[in-house]
Amino acid sequence: MTKVTMTVNGRQVSGEVEDRTLLVHFIRDKLGLTGTHVGCDTSQCGACVVHMDGRSIKSCSTLAVQAAGSEILTIEGLAKDGELHPVQAAFKANHGLQCGFCTPGMVMTAVDMINRYGGRLDEKTVRENLEGNICRCTGYHNIVKAILAAAAEMGAGRQAAE
Ligand code: FES
Ligand code: FES
Repeated sequence: MTKVTMTVNGRQVSGEVEDRTLLVHFIRDKLGLTGTHVGCDTSQCGACVVHMDGRSIKSCSTLAVQAAGSEILTIEGLAKDGELHPVQAAFKANHGLQCGFCTPGMVMTAVDMINRYGGRLDEKTVRENLEGNICRCTGYHNIVKAILAAAAEMGAGRQAAE
């Protein structure tokens, strides 16, 4: 067993893990943050996406020991002071979910792509960047719509602040 320490949603956490323990299992089983889902065992579905040092990663394909010392953000860390993150609000407003199983991973992937592209995101780029996230319910249309709406809002916010 190895002791790992990392920052998760702004809080420093530590735990004993085996060398083979996946980050997603550390997050779910040791920290009780079950918003991060496991939807496959082939690294394809993206239900497990979290941010590590500001970039989206699949936590089912990352070892907990690899995340030692890093900053992890999960879906539970997005809302601030009881207010949904703009991407969460846009998924709600645009009906970007049905069963919700894929949603945490979709939202975390969306936040990363908006951070990278800002208000310059177009539909083609959103669809390309969603290649690692599978949704069995929605047909993706409203997910894409939600991400574009959030990007426009967040991009406009950034421009207003500049
Ligand atoms: S659980 Fe499916 S990609 Fe991670
Ligand atoms: S909303 Fe059901 S899998 Fe995406």
